[in-house]
Amino acid sequence: MQREIYFDNHATTRTDPRVVDTMLPWMVTEFANPGSITHEPGRRVAAKMDECRDNIQQILNAPDSDLIFTSGATESINLALFGTALHPKQKRRKIVSAATEHRAVLDPLHRLQKSGWEIVHLQIEASDPGRIGEIDLASAEKEIDDSTALVCLMLGNNEIGTIQPFDKIAQLCRDRGALLHIDASQAIGKLSVDFESLGADLLSFSSHKFYGPKGIGGLLIKRETASRRLLPQIIGGGQQNNLRSGTLNSVGIVGMASAIQYAVEELNRESQRLANLRDRLWHRLQTGIEGLLINGPDWRDEGDAVHRLPGNLNICFPRVEGQSLMLRTPLLAVSSGSACTSAEPHPSHVLLAIGRSEDQARSSIRFGLGRFNTPDEVDQAADWLIQAYRDLASFVA
Ligand SMILES: Cc1ncc(COP(=O)(O)O)c(C=O)c1O
Repeated sequence: MQREIYFDNHATTRTDPRVVDTMLPWMVTEFANPGSITHEPGRRVAAKMDECRDNIQQILNAPDSDLIFTSGATESINLALFGTALHPKQKRRKIVSAATEHRAVLDPLHRLQKSGWEIVHLQIEASDPGRIGEIDLASAEKEIDDSTALVCLMLGNNEIGTIQPFDKIAQLCRDRGALLHIDASQAIGKLSVDFESLGADLLSFSSHKFYGPKGIGGLLIKRETASRRLLPQIIGGGQQNNLRSGTLNSVGIVGMASAIQYAVEELNRESQRLANLRDRLWHRLQTGIEGLLINGPDWRDEGDAVHRLPGNLNICFPRVEGQSLMLRTPLLAVSSGSACTSAEPHPSHVLLAIGRSEDQARSSIRFGLGRFNTPDEVDQAADWLIQAYRDLASFVA
């Protein structure tokens, strides 16, 4: 029997069995509440939480920060956005972001806009092939000003893989007194993520994107700039210095700390391996199908200066819908360029923002290659897709 092939590692990753092993004792033996420091079992779990926190901060080079454990990047981003915007001492009324951000950013911004905030989306590079999806610096220069409370941008794009260079943007934020929030959900384990060098004040991440468990993530908060400027969003119990109440997810935290350790230790080898798999998939598909378009930054002539996450490939298949291709390749788990968030599938807002038409967005498929994928799977998936494409294209020819 043929096996399923999972190429949707931007949506989530399989929890690494090594990570599961580290978690089990903290579920069945050391299960005490880390807030119960009146007894020894509670103190042991509390000490483990401190150790995990320290390790994660060290790995992300964030020594002068607080790390708040959350349920994932969506919650971290909500805390960063609403926490900054609603703080009583907040005098500024503008947030700068981009139309290519994840819905975890765009939806909270939409709510803030409805309550009177000025929300500005920066222009996106849509013509230089190697830099598609990057922020246009001239528009950042113009829009990040003295009324800007926060700039909120992602490090690695979850659909088209664009890697955002942050040096100039971080400098602009510093010069104009705006906080910088970076959504690093897709970057950890694929790029070296260094909180200090990025110049971030806030940084969000989710463990299930780097082979850790679901339901756990973090928000790094630079002590000097951001920690006294955040209004807690979940209250009741006062855990985590009152910034995020609720019993710590101790099992998840142990898993996330272990997952980030593996992801960073194996980063160089793994990102090269993923880039090779991505290249292999692209070449196989291209030899079988004419007229494919790459959505997002073209990596092929960029040498070492590639601006795309290594395991990401997003392709527009001419004349056929991504969802039709997916229906004809039922054993392949990928994601199409339209999101079924309602009865009507909407074309991807990211593909539209980089200048693709609605039809092109609907004809697109996102591939997210990951740790457990192999060259054989790439070859098999390419064969399935080429066959499905030819069948479908013969109807529309
Ligand atoms: C870039 C980005 N930001 C935020 C999120 C939200 O993460 P979670 O669903 O784990 O809260 C995701 C998940 O798809 C993402 O890809």
